[in-house]
Amino acid sequence: MKVATHQLRCTECGARIAGSAVNSIFRCPICNGLYDVIYPWSALPDGEATSASKLPNASALRWLWQERRTSTMSVDQSGVWRFRDLFPILEDENNVVTLREGNTPLYELPRAAKALGLNWILAKHQGMNPTGSFKDTGMTAALSVAKERGFEWVACASTGNTSAAMAAYAARAGMRSIVFIPEGKIAWGKLSQSMDYGALTIQLKTDFDGCVNVLTDLVNRFPIMLLNSVNPYRLEGQKTPAFEMVEQLEWQVPEHVIVPGGNLANGSALAKGFAEMHHLGLIPRIPKVSIIQAEGANPLYRSLQENGGQELIPVKANTRATAIRIGNPASWRKALRALRTTGGWCEQVSEQEIALAKAQIGAEGIGCEPASAVTLAGLKKLVAQGKIGPEERVVLILTGHTLKDSNYTIDFHRGELFNAEEDAAIPAAERELHAALRKPPVVLEADTDTVFRALESQMKLVHA
Ligand code: F0G
Repeated sequence: MKVATHQLRCTECGARIAGSAVNSIFRCPICNGLYDVIYPWSALPDGEATSASKLPNASALRWLWQERRTSTMSVDQSGVWRFRDLFPILEDENNVVTLREGNTPLYELPRAAKALGLNWILAKHQGMNPTGSFKDTGMTAALSVAKERGFEWVACASTGNTSAAMAAYAARAGMRSIVFIPEGKIAWGKLSQSMDYGALTIQLKTDFDGCVNVLTDLVNRFPIMLLNSVNPYRLEGQKTPAFEMVEQLEWQVPEHVIVPGGNLANGSALAKGFAEMHHLGLIPRIPKVSIIQAEGANPLYRSLQENGGQELIPVKANTRATAIRIGNPASWRKALRALRTTGGWCEQVSEQEIALAKAQIGAEGIGCEPASAVTLAGLKKLVAQGKIGPEERVVLILTGHTLKDSNYTIDFHRGELFNAEEDAAIPAAERELHAALRKPPVVLEADTDTVFRALESQMKLVHA
């Protein structure tokens, strides 16, 4: 891997710079745009030539990636670095910091598919990564770059998963990390991770967007590598689940991929992965990538409704899916580009719809955190609108593990998640589904007869 083989290209004005020349906020000094990582073989807009572009050979790549599965080297065992030929961002492979991320399963969701009248729903469970979220796939890439460039400190603002991932990878690399999280607004599991992995954890009395502001000032003043998803190296790692997914599907391409939208980087990372595979001839077409937001944190959805995506309408975000509680997402333009180039849609879903979808995913034995469940809730809407048909294959990206936010799950099952008003707003048709899925724990005396009686009534219920 040679660093000279990549450049950064501004997604707004097209200016290109060497990777090492990027400023500390990862924004174009000319127009404040975000960067994409590009390679000599990248497809660029008409009129912009790539240098001596020699396309990597598609069948050689497939063979190589398959071959690496049997290797005992950590870079090969990583489900991200196994695809490193398509993101040569390091000069020296010894700088790779890996926890063997990626390699996540693709599960079928037969009951959800049946309920929706679809033949096929799959869930790519990114919560099965080492720190329990998809962030690991990006963090391994960006943290390795930080290490190679000699940084001692890294930092991020986070709703909890980025910080958990960053703290873990920094610890593996022997580097120091600073986490800014909104006080009281992230799930405990995530907060505990950043402490466990030894980060300097700072809870700010603000929201995620306020944390980003403080972080920006900090990285402008001190030599700290910013590891939020504006860092384009993150997205180079986050594009690899697209490769892994189609490889798992024996190079068949699903019609739809659905992601949750928060800071709005991940959808564009996957879209970049699919576009690159298409450009290199690895796949014959690209799936539609759709992005789903929570109603209470819906700036992209609103902007599309109100001004066709001309400008972002920031919102004061509020949702129990705390991972995506973001009102002023940095990567909204990239997300818009992903929707437009793939033909996907942006939808919003209510708190009640999120809770139901999460319980349904849990009831299939898979589980995920609330933010991930917006994908199934959004899929229901897209099916109802006739945008997704029964024959079409859908992959939901489950971004976080169910244990990330066990309080949410417990509250749901105990019937304590919603206040009376929200509860009353659950549509009648869905009320029964909520009730049927709720499995509150039963507290009994430790007496066999009592337990038998309780079991008997439960079993009768099942047979009734
Ligand atoms: N799902 C989960 C579980 C997340 O943690 C996030 C983002 C998203 C979806 C949205 O991804 O930002 O690329 O649109 N979490 C960030 C964090 C913001 O700090 O952990 P996105």
